[in-house]
Amino acid sequence: MCGIVGYIGFREAYPIVIKGLKRLEYRGYDSAGVMLFDGNDLKVSKTKGKVSDLEEKSKEISQSGTIGMGHTRWATHGVPNDINSHPHLSNSENLAIIHNGIIENYEPLKKELIKRGYVFKSDTDTEVLVNLIEEVKKKENLKLGKAVQVALNQVIGAYAICVFDKQKPDEIVVARLGSPLAIGVGKDEFFIASDASPFIEYTSNAIYLEDEEMAIVRLHKPLKIRKIKDDTIVDPYIQELQMNLEQIEKGGYDHFMLKEIYEQPNVIKDTYRGRLLANEGIIKMAGIEDNLEKFLNADRILIVACGTSWHAGLVAEYIIEEFTRIPVEVEYASEFRYRNPIINKNDIVIAISQSGETADTLAAIKLAKENGAFVFGVCNVVGSSISRETHAGAYTHAGPEIGVASTKAFTTQITVLTMIALRLAKAKGTLSNSDFHRHLQELEIIPEKVQEALEMTNEVAKTIAAKFKDSQNCLYLGRGYNFPVALEGALKLKEISYIHAEGYPAAEMKHGPIALIDEQMPVVVIAPKQGHYDKVVSNIQEIKSRSGKIIAIVTKGDTQVRDLADYVIEIPDTSDALSPLLTTIPLQLLSYHIAVMRDCNVDQPRNLAKSVTVE
Ligand code: AGP
Ligand code: GLU
Repeated sequence: MCGIVGYIGFREAYPIVIKGLKRLEYRGYDSAGVMLFDGNDLKVSKTKGKVSDLEEKSKEISQSGTIGMGHTRWATHGVPNDINSHPHLSNSENLAIIHNGIIENYEPLKKELIKRGYVFKSDTDTEVLVNLIEEVKKKENLKLGKAVQVALNQVIGAYAICVFDKQKPDEIVVARLGSPLAIGVGKDEFFIASDASPFIEYTSNAIYLEDEEMAIVRLHKPLKIRKIKDDTIVDPYIQELQMNLEQIEKGGYDHFMLKEIYEQPNVIKDTYRGRLLANEGIIKMAGIEDNLEKFLNADRILIVACGTSWHAGLVAEYIIEEFTRIPVEVEYASEFRYRNPIINKNDIVIAISQSGETADTLAAIKLAKENGAFVFGVCNVVGSSISRETHAGAYTHAGPEIGVASTKAFTTQITVLTMIALRLAKAKGTLSNSDFHRHLQELEIIPEKVQEALEMTNEVAKTIAAKFKDSQNCLYLGRGYNFPVALEGALKLKEISYIHAEGYPAAEMKHGPIALIDEQMPVVVIAPKQGHYDKVVSNIQEIKSRSGKIIAIVTKGDTQVRDLADYVIEIPDTSDALSPLLTTIPLQLLSYHIAVMRDCNVDQPRNLAKSVTVE
């Protein structure tokens, strides 16, 4: 995720681009850059840091020019620094590109370009793309638009790009696959951006490119949109936007949290993009491949994390132990760092953190390293403290998570941890080939099932939320893989609606908590068809016999629980191991709707910070 802005018209481009980047900073903000063309010179200024740092840095260049492009980065390949920031120039310095997305096959493309004499300044996948376009343009003597089209047909990945050629300075070529790109259509001017927020004050006429579409944005010429694959012309559909600025930044959703809940199908796909090749039966993650022997010889895997990331660690414990038979222990980082833990040199520590800045987790990592353990990070922020402190790692590609309540980070962390478990199981032979392939195929279609779960459960969750929004307490129960999901569901409710909630292993009810059950106590029971179903049904009967109010999360088509529960939310079927990726969806939505109905500040709940960088 990042922000792209482009302008071609009669106004000075710089102020439009800079203000546009500020409006897009919520999409990614580890570095930023701007390109301007004043009719003679192509000028670039870029820097690690925020757009405000770019404003300082760009005082070093002449800011004139009526053509410009800008980028606020959320790094996927290459740590945040000046060199890796966008725009990137081709070797000739004639072409400039800004890019939102991931080029999966950038390594083989880069190798081939190096063979042809190209040199690279940055570690990014984007710089490969702009030089591929240059190579195609030169070798086949093509104009920019055609060169972009030919190059993109060699690319695997996701992109929203703007490409500029200073030798043909009356146009900007744009293309989209998997990342958003909007074109603002003004009178004698065009705006290009990741969403309409940078141009809504200039024009409310917008064209949203669809996937696999590209366009040459040229002044005083009607916009021509084409299919990248086969060049067929697409009639541009100009929408009259009604949204205000704040609604646009939230993608039309009322809160960032809801937007991020609905982003989960796409970001799970982004997280396994280029890593999960189900048809070939391959999982490849550089951080694992480079350290495979360490993992295979590990006596134990220790997972350290906090909050929701700790819950993802608990899910990982079940998955890794079931698939690989490697013992796993999950620890609160805050406890681990102070209890003088036993850490052996053959231990592997996995540190999970969305922000990559959580002080307790960082301290736990340092302690583990002091004791000789190999530490592997699962982070969402490239170049964050934890990603730099760990020996190796794998990023989730969830994009910035703005809502304090973590949602898409949780499901993308589980996605990464599941891929790790499957890769290790394949290497250890602890999963049969058929089971291995079955899990790969099921994981590959999980984004579609998450999308289905969102569609199936939102309205039901909202209806149920209205009935329980004034509850004082709530219990969440789950077994096996869904015990951590019960904890996570309870945390979501607590932190955004301020209702006291507890998660428990369902069987644990009879060891005390069942004393809490009465008709005032809503009990959310996670009861998917796969995994201890009959046992959970017995727990439901125990609750029912004490007049508890039961909200059950069940597999689509379930009838048995439907007869027992007061409320039922159906989700698609999946394997036991992958069920947390679906069962968590209605719990996220339930807590969201309850919080909204209680007029709570959903995105910035009281007392909370998005990243707890203090002890
Ligand atoms: C989860 O909704 C909370 N925001 C919080 O528990 C969070 O998961 C925890 O602070 C860990 O943060 P991290 O993943 O950035 O390390
Ligand atoms: N993959 C590109 C990079 O790492 C673009 C990332 C983004 O979308 O900001 O620079």
